[in-house]
Amino acid sequence: MLLQVDNISKFYKQNGETFQAVDSIQFEVKKGEFVSLLGPSGCGKSTVLKIIAGLEKASSGTIQIQGKPILGPVKEQMMVFQEAALFPWMTVMENVSFGLKAAGKLNLKEIEEKALYYLAMVHMSKFVDHYPHQLSGGMKQRASIARALAMDPEILLMDEPFSALDEQTRLLLHAELEDILIKTNKSIIFVTHNIREAVTLSDRILVFSTRPGRIKSEFNIQASRPRMMTNELVDIEFRIMEVLREEIEKVMKHEVDDAYEFKSRVLSTNDTHSMGSGI
Ligand SMILES: Nc1ncnc2c1ncn2[C@@H]1O[C@H](COP(=O)(O)OP(=O)(O)O)[C@@H](O)[C@H]1O
Ligand SMILES: [Mg+2]
Repeated sequence: MLLQVDNISKFYKQNGETFQAVDSIQFEVKKGEFVSLLGPSGCGKSTVLKIIAGLEKASSGTIQIQGKPILGPVKEQMMVFQEAALFPWMTVMENVSFGLKAAGKLNLKEIEEKALYYLAMVHMSKFVDHYPHQLSGGMKQRASIARALAMDPEILLMDEPFSALDEQTRLLLHAELEDILIKTNKSIIFVTHNIREAVTLSDRILVFSTRPGRIKSEFNIQASRPRMMTNELVDIEFRIMEVLREEIEKVMKHEVDDAYEFKSRVLSTNDTHSMGSGI
């Protein structure tokens, strides 16, 4: 098994009180598998991803990558965040080369070749000398993905990487990410609150409940790639929505009023089944 997440729980302190953000999270990821963590905002998705990245410590439980426990940031996983975390004072080329230079394993020519290879894969060959402020949101995320891929991680960890993008760009990047998946056979753990995004991209979806975050349900999707929005996928969307209905209602009752009722037509087949960021 490539990655084993074993019984992870996390407690945080907020205003002097301890509260549980995630509870007994357990799952595995195989080589080449695309696994999404799906759930409403605040259910602990990012917390789980940061623990896997070695950026946060679990309160209890263990993570193993190829049988070795993760104790801090390791090169086997690379993180791509919602807002591309590119260095603003470096060009695209310098950003993508940065980690390779720091690793000190390749000479400058090899680094440039590798960076260019992955920049071509994300359709950024024309923008190697651009600075981040000269790029659109989609271009920045493409550069971030190239930077992560260049480090040749076993697992790519992506935390709502397309949430800040317009719908058109997001659809393009979904197709491009599928292409990358087919070309590289990378494993990806992908955090999203968007049902359609999860269904379009994932081999497996872990649906989270809120407060504390637990894995409430699991969906396997075997449709071939590149994915088309078939009836089969729409049907899975509806089944996921049913699972989430209760969670959404719970959050709204807490945040709005106790009489709040979840109306299924709010999430019709015509929208992207986004649960939004405010719930
Ligand atoms: N560093 C932190 N300190 C205290 N509370 C935190 C911290 N990080 C996250 N939380 C809380 O833990 C819960 C889960 O957060 P998060 O993992 O970011 O959720 P998600 O990514 O699903 O929106 C939230 O209630 C959030 O406020
Ligand atoms: Mg998050």
